[in-house]
Amino acid sequence: MAMDYSEKVMEHFAHPHNVGVIEDADGVGEVGNAKCGDIMKMYLKIRDGVIEDVKFQTFGCASAIATSSMATDLIKGKPVEDALKLTNQAVVEALDGLPAVKVHCSVLAEQAIKAALADYYKRQGIENEELNACLACGAEHDHGAEDEA
Ligand code: FES
Repeated sequence: MAMDYSEKVMEHFAHPHNVGVIEDADGVGEVGNAKCGDIMKMYLKIRDGVIEDVKFQTFGCASAIATSSMATDLIKGKPVEDALKLTNQAVVEALDGLPAVKVHCSVLAEQAIKAALADYYKRQGIENEELNACLACGAEHDHGAEDEA
């Protein structure tokens, strides 16, 4: 069955932004979804609390690639605090929507960024409890609904 993807999703899938590796990254995060088997890895370069550069490697479906691309665009050049607040719902909106069965791909993108940020904090000797709790609850939930409540 053909999926109804927005033009933006197709665009980011065909020409993803920020693909690659940052060798001297300040934070690296890798997450996977056990059900679909997709894996995302994010690299962050952070200077003075600002995300100077971000790159990703995603082994996954078209939506996983498109959401990684959009998520990295949304946090590049932004303060760490803004990246912490990025929700999968914001990524979905920026892509003009995703088919319901593909929303979990955007959750993976949010979690990959959070995992990279958690690693960044850890390297500074800081345990960010809120972030760790969010990561511990897994990549299965969609933040959109609860944020709007
Ligand atoms: Fe699982 Fe896309 S199908 S991340």
